[in-house]
This record gives sequence, structure tokens and C-alpha cells, in this order.
Amino acid sequence: MNESLRIGVIGCGDIAATRHIPALSACSDVRLAALCDADLQRARHLAEQYQVPIATADYRELLQNESLDAVVICTPPWVTPHLTMESLQAGKHVLCEKPMAVDVNTAEKVRETERATGYKVQVGFTYRHGPLLETLREWIKQGKLGSPLVYRLGIFDESWDPTGNPEHYDRIYRTMQHGSPSIHDGAHVADFLQFLAESPVTAVESFGIRTRTEFPTTNYDLSVIRFENGDIAKVEIGWFLPKFPKGEFEIVGPKGIAIFDRFDQYVQLKTGEITETVKLEEDWAASCFSIQLGKFIASIRTNTPCVPGVDEGIGSLALTKAIEKSLRER
Ligand SMILES: NC(=O)c1ccc[n+]([C@@H]2O[C@H](COP(=O)([O-])OP(=O)(O)OC[C@H]3O[C@@H](n4cnc5c(N)ncnc54)[C@H](O)[C@@H]3O)[C@@H](O)[C@H]2O)c1
Repeated sequence: MNESLRIGVIGCGDIAATRHIPALSACSDVRLAALCDADLQRARHLAEQYQVPIATADYRELLQNESLDAVVICTPPWVTPHLTMESLQAGKHVLCEKPMAVDVNTAEKVRETERATGYKVQVGFTYRHGPLLETLREWIKQGKLGSPLVYRLGIFDESWDPTGNPEHYDRIYRTMQHGSPSIHDGAHVADFLQFLAESPVTAVESFGIRTRTEFPTTNYDLSVIRFENGDIAKVEIGWFLPKFPKGEFEIVGPKGIAIFDRFDQYVQLKTGEITETVKLEEDWAASCFSIQLGKFIASIRTNTPCVPGVDEGIGSLALTKAIEKSLRER
């Protein structure tokens, strides 16, 4: 397989248009060969913009295309696992968006299908890739913060603007019908924790509020998570508020503190003796998408497992489902 990999995209909504398709089209090792969206206009519009030869509303038509090596699946997470399984059965490798499913049983069926077909799945935990998270992990592994650690993580996204941006309101409302923000944005945070703490979860306590009665779930969740190694995480995920706090990412230990500032794109370690900073010059999010794609391609070319793969996808989902269970018990 020395030629460029031929890749198709299923689901040409927001994240495909703003991140995946630009990353695919900028990659010299990829031929962006086909686009599919249930809304044909979306696929056609992007196909024209990126000179992609095939645009279709029927994902089965795309999967029947034998010349495609792989697909990137950017559909809502209650649709994604079914398309992932059909893609694997059609002989395509899959890079699927997070969360890989909205329930663990379905995610496990994806794992069975991956094993049965021999094609690969990478899960789109985009922001674990790149030097910032890797540096944090190295500092932790080298014991620079000591242990046990307290992770303080917050993601506040998707502001509430039903009249100014009704399309966005409908999309996020629909998403909340399939789980609170902890299931959706929480998928990234749960992956950060499995990437950094590398220890099984032993307890989860979550509390949530619903700031408007019409919301289908809580829209601001606060969780405390305990790990077998003694670490603790405090996680806040909030959607659908008119204004948000910044959303911290800090790790506090007996020897010092590490900070990840995703807006100013740096990580910093501060102990009694030293301050160490690693700053990224290029756009952090764009570089994470490009590194993610590079790793997916490398796994296909070298026939090695994708990381993060289905096991990490299920690990993240198990934690966010434990958060959801705790929210329901309140
Ligand atoms: N990695 C990240 O940083 C990141 C960021 C945002 C969203 N996401 C994830 O990406 C996924 C998509 O999110 P989005 O914001 O782009 O949503 P979106 O609603 O804007 O896009 C989804 C698209 O999928 C299409 N679609 C749905 N079912 C289909 C089917 N059966 N066949 C073909 N097309 C179909 C829809 O028409 C829509 O255009 C979600 O799982 C979300 O959690 C990831």
C-alpha cells in the first residue's frame, strides 16, 4: 500500500467541516475520495470546496466503494457505532468520533466486530495527542508532582443562544436527549484521566443541575472520581449557559502543581524549586487533529493497533456512564 490512502468521510456536519476534512485534505498521504451526509447538500458543498469526486447521501453507497481503504465517521454518537460496524464489515478501517457509542453494550459489539473482521478502529480522543498532554504525562510518570494527585478539570462549552443560533440549539438539545454533557464532552475528560492517571476507577459521585426545566438532562454536572492509586479527580462539565467560566485543567500534588492552559496553549510545572513551561506555537486543536490522523494512517500502514482504540473508547464510556448512573441516583 505505497500509494496515498483513500479515505471517505461519513457525516459532514460541524466537526467534519471545521477539523477532519481540512486535516484530511492537508495530509499528503491521503486522497480524500468520498463524502457522505444524510443531508446531501452538506456533502456536495464540501465536495465542491475540497474537490472530492464523490458526494452521496447514502453511506452504504460509500461503503460499497472498493477503492476506499478507510472512513472517518463524524455522525452523532447514537448513530456512530452502527456505521462503525457496517464499515468494518465492508472492509474499511475506521477513525470514529467520540464518544464511540452512548452505551457500553453497543460499544462492546463494536469491539467484537473489530476482532471478527480484522479491520481497525481508532477513537477520536483528539486532544490526548501532541506534546502538551504527553509532557504532562511525563511529569507525572517522573514523579515531579509526587503522589497522590488531585486532577481539577472543567469543560464549559456550547453556550445557550436559542434565538441567535437555532441550528446549534437544536443540535445540542438533540444531543442532550442522548445523555448529559458528561457523556459527550465528558468523553474527552474521561480519556484524559485514563491517559494521565492510568489507574482503575474505584468510586464516582456526581451531582447535576438543570438550569431550565425544558432541558432533557442536567446541563451542569460536577463529579468526584476516586482511583485505585489514591488519586482523585474533580470534573465539571457545563453546557447551555449564556456565560461560562474558563474551565481549568490543573493537577495538584505534594511536590507541586501542573497547569494545562488550552487557550494560551501551554503546560507548566511549578514546584518549590523549578518552573518549567512547554508552549505550542502552532494552533493546538488543528495540530491535535493532524497528529490524530497521522497516527491512524501509521497504524493502517504498519498493521499495528490503533491507540486510542476501542478499549480506550469503552474505558472512557464506562466512566461517563458511571457518572450518569450517579446523577440518576440523586
Ligand atoms: N473531537 C472533537 O473535538 C469533537 C468536537 C465536536 C464534536 N465531536 C463529535 O463529533 C460527532 C459529530 O458532531 P458534530 O458537532 O459534527 O455534529 P453535526 O450534527 O454537526 O454533524 C453530524 C452529521 O452527521 C450526519 N448524519 C447523521 N446520520 C447520518 C447517516 N446515517 N448517514 C450520513 N450522515 C449522517 C448529519 O446529517 C450531520 O450533518 C459527535 O459524536 C460529537 O461528539 C467531536
